[in-house]
Amino acid sequence: MWLNRRMSSSHYEDFLQLYPAYGSSQQLDGLRVSEYSILEKQGHVYLDYTGAGLYSRAQLFAHQELLNSQVFGNPHSYNPTSICSTELVEQARAYVLKFFNASPEEYVCIFTQNASGALKIVGEAYPFGTGCRYLLTFDNHNSVNGIREYAHSRGASVTYQPLILPDLRVDDNGLLENLRQLDKGCFNLFAYPAQSNFSGVQHSLDWISAAQDQGWDVLLDAAAFVPTNRLDLGQVHPDFVPLSFYKMFGYPTGIGALIARKETLHKLSRSWFAGGTTTVASVRGNRFYPADAPAAFEDGTLNYLNIPAVEIGLRHLDRISYHIIHERVISLTGWLLENLTTLKHSNGKPLVQIYGPLDTQDRGGTIALNFFDPQGEIIPKHLLEEEAGCRNISIRMGFFCNPGAGEIALDISGDELSSCFSRPAYEDRISDLDFQRCIDPKASGAVRVSIGLVSNYSDIEAFLRFANNFLE
Ligand SMILES: Cc1ncc(COP(=O)(O)O)c(C=O)c1O
Repeated sequence: MWLNRRMSSSHYEDFLQLYPAYGSSQQLDGLRVSEYSILEKQGHVYLDYTGAGLYSRAQLFAHQELLNSQVFGNPHSYNPTSICSTELVEQARAYVLKFFNASPEEYVCIFTQNASGALKIVGEAYPFGTGCRYLLTFDNHNSVNGIREYAHSRGASVTYQPLILPDLRVDDNGLLENLRQLDKGCFNLFAYPAQSNFSGVQHSLDWISAAQDQGWDVLLDAAAFVPTNRLDLGQVHPDFVPLSFYKMFGYPTGIGALIARKETLHKLSRSWFAGGTTTVASVRGNRFYPADAPAAFEDGTLNYLNIPAVEIGLRHLDRISYHIIHERVISLTGWLLENLTTLKHSNGKPLVQIYGPLDTQDRGGTIALNFFDPQGEIIPKHLLEEEAGCRNISIRMGFFCNPGAGEIALDISGDELSSCFSRPAYEDRISDLDFQRCIDPKASGAVRVSIGLVSNYSDIEAFLRFANNFLE
């Protein structure tokens, strides 16, 4: 009843009153009509921006025009078509640094396939050794968690910094205490996400210099942060910054970057070489000489036809401005949080539990939650998925490759996990379904709603209607 009243036409006025900054982002409504009209045409409610950003028509046209205007050959040569490709790749590389205000004296942009590819470069080449540490927050994507296997295999110790409920943030003092414990004669890597892809929490960028002052190298996973927040590498100086461009502006897929401090990059040592990564490689002489970065880390032929589309995408964001994107995302996030938390069954029990902060302070537009019936039981994901599908709503369910945050949010204990993993049947392999049977029903994870570049008030209203449907 209450929700229906709040969702009347005056509802939008209430929203604007509470979030007047939304009004200043109205150019995005125009952009959505002219550039993202397919959303309306096909009736989509897209709320999976942490999964992938969306692209504008103008990005596609500009890229197509570019491809039609010249002949592009494989870079790595001095013939005219090769030079043409090389020039555009280097121009895009320079633009990436400029976009993040990263000085070319300090940073280099290495093109990769995606953020995971960037993380793998760090993991496989970081000089972990006995007595060294890999410290990471519970809140991390699996591609950051995966680096622990390299650390383990080279004798380094791995420590997870826990998250505190209910906000799923890290206790600063506990972290600083942990950062103080290191062997300064060793190589020590600290990794965390600027924004959680599970809860939307934005972790402090002050940790970067705090850790570096103690002698740590810092890997700041920016994949979920940069789609809606400016990362200024003139202000903060993490050693490694992995990201995926499709998360920022939708197109092209298949390109990410590792933006790395040159000084720290020198510590990395790769145990293989490939086409393009050497100055000289000899078979009879049994030697290879690595090229300088970025070439030393870019295996084989770059995605040279699509890399120019990265510059087109970055210019697109520049024209809109992060300020406007951020205002819009935060306004919509605040409104959604506020309305979701007021939804109650007739017996007074809440419809949803949100995992993470309930206000807009130091958080982005990613919200993880579960739906509960009047008896307090989790509503099964397949019912939510079915209903969302009928309403053409794109949301995501599960752990979002962030098991650490998910396990803390859903209170899945280490003992529960150990007793599941130690069953003889799961010695070598376990499927998603087996895992869910083992830790039912918590192992179905959460629902994730994420707000981005061209989200609007109607999207949020559509999600609230969807939620309302689960009140008995
Ligand atoms: C925070 C974070 N880091 C890393 C990744 C990995 O990105 P990709 O799958 O593009 O390699 C993701 C993807 O969702 C992410 O959200």
